[in-house]
Amino acid sequence: MNRARELLASFQVRFGTGASIFRASGRVNLIGEHTDYNEGLVLPAAIGFSCWVGIAPRPDRKLVLYSENFKEMHEASLDGLGVRGSGHWTDYPLGVAWALQDAGYRLQGADLYIAGDVPLGAGLSSSAAIEVSTGYALLSVAGHPIDRTELAKLCQRAENEFVGARVGIMDQFISCHGRAGHALEIDCRSLEYRALKLPSKVTLVICNTMVKHKIQAGEYNVRRAECEEAVRKLSAALPGIRSLRDVNMEQLVQNRHLLPDALYRRCRHIISENGRVADVAELFHRGKTEGLRELMAASHASMRDDYEISCRELDVMVEIAGRQRGVYGARMTGGGFGGCTINLVDAAHAAGFRQRVAAEYESAIGLRPDIYICEASQGAELMERAAENLPKVRT
Ligand code: GLA
Repeated sequence: MNRARELLASFQVRFGTGASIFRASGRVNLIGEHTDYNEGLVLPAAIGFSCWVGIAPRPDRKLVLYSENFKEMHEASLDGLGVRGSGHWTDYPLGVAWALQDAGYRLQGADLYIAGDVPLGAGLSSSAAIEVSTGYALLSVAGHPIDRTELAKLCQRAENEFVGARVGIMDQFISCHGRAGHALEIDCRSLEYRALKLPSKVTLVICNTMVKHKIQAGEYNVRRAECEEAVRKLSAALPGIRSLRDVNMEQLVQNRHLLPDALYRRCRHIISENGRVADVAELFHRGKTEGLRELMAASHASMRDDYEISCRELDVMVEIAGRQRGVYGARMTGGGFGGCTINLVDAAHAAGFRQRVAAEYESAIGLRPDIYICEASQGAELMERAAENLPKVRT
């Protein structure tokens, strides 16, 4: 039985009706880290791990949520969502309902069955997957047309304001717009993007270090604040700059005296990383892999030394990967301080790569890593539409 059918059956057992089924993906970022909230460039791909949402409308104004992962039921009223979450998993779906309604989309009460297979806490954006799948489902059931970029922005707002994490737009955007077999080069200022076909021999292999250092959540916001402070300091010499996107390397070097060393290095990472995203995008555009390895290695070194978001486990994983056959490039991916590395590996070598990296990492660190061989997949989509809850026609 396919996953959508399974979800329908589970929904029927839980809520006693048919349902429409939606899914949205987690993501892996190939290059362009922490550049999104600096209005820069990123190059992520949606991956096969998803969050699934079964939904059926209710006659009242309640949202009744059931999480298969947490085996928990939760009820909330669409008219009393508040403006802040409570630190519970329901903050994600309820935050999205809040953001949609706050933006003027009137929602309809609904039963929701939520099930995810994005590994939690691995940095593969299970949060964007639940936000986007829920948002898509709620809009559809209420009969609103879907504007994917608008949905991504509202899911980001839910996470920024309701959940309280000051993330950029990358994860929600790729979860909405992902395309099978492609990575997206996204300009996080204009939100223009282009889909770039991954070179046919390249497989995405994600290595989970199995660690998540506690400083992670706090340090993310610290990095963001550091970038904002650097912009304030640099604007003394460069009036009119709005973000680090407006500063090039020459200007940064010329104005180094305005910045403490740590801020200077943060800026150097962001500015050089934008350049590397453009270079990798160009390679993919031409179907090439030459130079990929150096660009990904430079990205990792920049995150380790300038942005200071790596950790020993990530460095060891990248170093081991770099020694394997058939590797086009390896670097840490996502927010940092643990989580995963992304490895571009020749398809013919992927299975051997997985075995050897797992063994070497385990003997170096003492933890058995999860290693996922992934394909770039489609973004959010409707998988099954129940006849009895077709979206209403808007009046
Ligand atoms: C997290 C955030 C993204 C992005 C990355 C780092 O995944 O959710 O917005 O900032 O970290 O590139």
